[in-house]
Amino acid sequence: MSAAGPSPGANSAPTGGSAAAKPQAWGDDMSAAGPNAPVIAIDGPAASGKGTIAHNVAQALRFHYLDSGSLYRLVALRAVERAVAPDDAAGLTGLTADLNVAFRDGRATLDGRDVADSLRTEAVSTVASKIAVHPAVRSALMARQRAFRAPPGLVAEGRDMGTVVFPDAGLKVFLTASAEQRAERRHKQLITKGISVNIDSLLRDIRERDARDSTRAAAPLAPAPDAVILDTTNLSIAEVTAAVLALYGEPAG
Ligand code: C5P
Repeated sequence: MSAAGPSPGANSAPTGGSAAAKPQAWGDDMSAAGPNAPVIAIDGPAASGKGTIAHNVAQALRFHYLDSGSLYRLVALRAVERAVAPDDAAGLTGLTADLNVAFRDGRATLDGRDVADSLRTEAVSTVASKIAVHPAVRSALMARQRAFRAPPGLVAEGRDMGTVVFPDAGLKVFLTASAEQRAERRHKQLITKGISVNIDSLLRDIRERDARDSTRAAAPLAPAPDAVILDTTNLSIAEVTAAVLALYGEPAG
């Protein structure tokens, strides 16, 4: 998969259209309101392409889209700005409760200030994965994440969408790809944005984040037992998007 494609980080409302064509396999979820609206959970490690894929699937189905990582990134950014240390669980939980966040046209704002670009830096990525180890921070973000579940449905991406946040999701997909391939994708993505980074340091950051995300006690990165695991190492964005839509029962295009 190439790193090109729409930029993730865009928690959003559906862009219109209807979910009326969804397959009946979704059962009761199909017609249910808010809390029971259908959810597609897409989890995976850093730079596995889940943001781009989830965004594409949400657009194809005209579903809401939740990039849960951006919430952890927002807490991380605020912590850096307020000089709250990544190991200060109580301080971080206080920040999380007070976070004044909005998502508009795919851009995140904090207290009305557009912070979409600041959220994607490697420094914020690292702090986000450090603060994400605290169970209190995770529970403080739970209600915010679940609030995205609304008709006609939600595509939610992150690390624990299928295991913890939406355990009743009708479709759970876990994306994997080799660390080298993920570093290469991230490298290309940054280059297209005019940011030059050393690929070895990207690979090191990705491995460190993988290790931290997978070994933490609270909601570690792991596929749900009922998740479909998709190795995207040799697949294009279009192929993975089509595969997820096919799993959902909706032809691509
Ligand atoms: O997905 P993204 O790379 O933007 O997430 C940033 C960090 O936030 C991850 O490395 C992970 O530690 C944390 N995270 C999490 N649970 C989620 C989403 C993100 O712990 N559902």
